[in-house]
Amino acid sequence: MLIPDATPPLAPQQAAHSARVAEQLRVLIAQGGGWLPFSRFMDAALYAPGLGYYMAGQARFGAGGDFVTAPELSPLFARCLATQVAELLQVVGGGDIVEYGAGSGALAADLLQALAACQALPRRYRIVEISAPLRALQRARLGQLPELAGRVEWLDGPPASGWQGVALVNEVLDALPVERFRIGAAGCESIGVIAAGDGFEWKPRAADALLSKAATDLNAALPESLPQGYVSELRPMLPAWIAAVTATLGKGAMVVVDYGLPRAQYYHASRDGGTLCGFFRHRRVEDVFAHPGLQDLTAWVDFSAVADAAVAAGLEVAGFATQAHFLASLGIDRHLATATADVGTRERLALTQGASMLMLPAEMGERFKVMVLARGIAGPFTGFCFRDLSASL
Ligand SMILES: C[S@@+](CC[C@H](N)C(=O)[O-])C[C@H]1O[C@@H](n2cnc3c(N)ncnc32)[C@H](O)[C@@H]1O
Repeated sequence: MLIPDATPPLAPQQAAHSARVAEQLRVLIAQGGGWLPFSRFMDAALYAPGLGYYMAGQARFGAGGDFVTAPELSPLFARCLATQVAELLQVVGGGDIVEYGAGSGALAADLLQALAACQALPRRYRIVEISAPLRALQRARLGQLPELAGRVEWLDGPPASGWQGVALVNEVLDALPVERFRIGAAGCESIGVIAAGDGFEWKPRAADALLSKAATDLNAALPESLPQGYVSELRPMLPAWIAAVTATLGKGAMVVVDYGLPRAQYYHASRDGGTLCGFFRHRRVEDVFAHPGLQDLTAWVDFSAVADAAVAAGLEVAGFATQAHFLASLGIDRHLATATADVGTRERLALTQGASMLMLPAEMGERFKVMVLARGIAGPFTGFCFRDLSASL
């Protein structure tokens, strides 16, 4: 049966914007001699100044946008996370929160309110956000909380050396550019992008030294070597990113939340083809070349790679769990009961549905994982008291 596409057509200004982004991508391909590594395509499509999805005001969060993240879905996410963050701040002996990629500011707003309610506010709430339009959105949202907004500031990069506290990274790693690769007869191939008429096409060529080494290291770490013809993606820049954002952390932890898997499951035979896709108006889009600049591009996170990068940067894995186990450990049932005790039917239904979406295995409960990476402090931490899957990494 043919299912009609219910997606409304692009508005003229959207089509014009996407055409400008496509033109910029064609220029980059031409400058690259007719071929561009996919990571450069993804980087430009998402982050080219004034053009990329996150940089030109196209990224829209929540029900009316392209995707819904946990903080957008339900305030219960931040209320549970607050319990974990408060514990970490206490173990550290007080400090700052530094949130990377704060989106609409929903997590910052809800978390600050939840921490205020339990007298566990950080000294400062600092946001490192690459996108100017999103920084403006965050300022507007947090400006609605005058009693807390004074604690919030925006930084252009990680804080200066020796800071202590908690770094938060919610659904940011999945948006860092990936390379697509294929295991070819003569070694690893990089599946890059060429221009084709008004659009783009895939074109493999021999991988460069960085991607070849990443693929060799990956193969060595897997229980079985990847078979010839296997296609997936890798984030060769991940170790450098983790090292950069943790370099100045004197004492504390980084909490990473994202969709992903331990390496052996990520690169399983059943996931041949990889996890790379687009998101546009809540639809998962297979064609990552469609509507450049208008759709989000994303790939799952290899949490074993995150753990390796963190250990190489001098941190320890202090816990790894599914989102459902993490939120259950932090009392989501109790938070739901409190939140629904004194509200009308409509709000009770919304809160209950939000909690189900966060927890159900087929929704966000299993796909999303939480990892705590620690420096100078030791667990166990409450978020992992129900189940800690660190051994699966
Ligand atoms: C998928 S959104 C998630 C937003 C928010 N954390 C949430 O969960 O709703 C990705 C966010 O990361 C930001 N971002 C991407 N790369 C970044 C980087 N290198 N440094 C800081 N922010 C970044 C984007 O601008 C955006 O705010």
